Amino acid sequence: MKALTVLPLTAGSARVEDRPDPVPAAGELLVEAVALGVCGTDREIADGEYGWAPPGADRLVLGHESLGRVRTAPAGSGFAEGDLVAGVVRRPDPVPCGACARGEFDMCRNGKYTERGIKEIDGYASELWTVETAYAVKIDKRLGELGVLMEPASVVAKAWDQIEHVGKRSWFEPQRVLVTGAGPIGMLAALLGVQRGLEVHVLDRVDAGPKPAAVAALGATYHSESAREVGERLRPDIVIEATGVPEVIADALAHNAEYGIVCLTGVSTAGRKIHVDVGGANRDIVLENDVVIGSVNANLKHYADAERALAAADPAWLGSLITRRVQLEDYATALKPEPDDIKVVLTF
Ligand code: BGC
Repeated sequence: MKALTVLPLTAGSARVEDRPDPVPAAGELLVEAVALGVCGTDREIADGEYGWAPPGADRLVLGHESLGRVRTAPAGSGFAEGDLVAGVVRRPDPVPCGACARGEFDMCRNGKYTERGIKEIDGYASELWTVETAYAVKIDKRLGELGVLMEPASVVAKAWDQIEHVGKRSWFEPQRVLVTGAGPIGMLAALLGVQRGLEVHVLDRVDAGPKPAAVAALGATYHSESAREVGERLRPDIVIEATGVPEVIADALAHNAEYGIVCLTGVSTAGRKIHVDVGGANRDIVLENDVVIGSVNANLKHYADAERALAAADPAWLGSLITRRVQLEDYATALKPEPDDIKVVLTF
């Protein structure tokens, strides 16, 4: 079978290579790949900035936003040939820490978790893959190819779950949410905000292409001014930051409502420095009882939340998020972002 692999921490090492077909172990599904979403993390790994090969191996099979069709399933597993599935990304650390022991592997406390296609376990960018039934999520057949949005939707469902947990520490009836970044995470965050009946605003630097139209189609408002201008004007109760851009993060922290909750979801590249008035930011956060949360990954509960959110969404709107489809062999073009991209998908 063909697989897209990289030599971690080595820029330009991505290639499609032949690998032996995987053999499912007891309790595992054998799955034929249908599609694979490409995200910023994959690009970082391909650029040599992130990623770990499995123990004893040099190369890592890339890919964590999976969609596949079951070829074989263990008897009595609840899965059957032909089912559409997505594989969960993270596995608990082997110790395990208290969070991982309770199924909250997205909240791992010792950093020894592993992740398919990212950290020490081969990913899903291969024509065939296996997955433990306990870490396979069934996708409603009506979603079809849109099931490839399951993993990013799970990340967003977790972010909202975190916001709601934190919000409930006092009276909490948020009205207005600002999402910074109109990529797949930002768009799905906006969708889940609209589904909650909130007034949703999305900010991105582009002012043309598919992003403004997709935001409008959701009934949300699109902005392309600076995060400072928009934040000052709107004073959102909730900010979901999905750019990872230092200036945008600083503005998100500074310009929100009293009791504002800022949820950071973008994994920035470290090393670029900007000037921030930390004293001023601290004063606002303290005097307003604001909270800044980091949120990464998702556990099985969030996949279930994501499933409900995708099922309730307009399929045509979800389809508008997939702006490019690229065959596995042309992975290099998929790994190169284009200005009008929302979600780029590899097809098999
Ligand atoms: C993935 C997460 C993962 C994170 C950090 C993200 O791109 O969606 O599942 O936990 O990268 O590795």
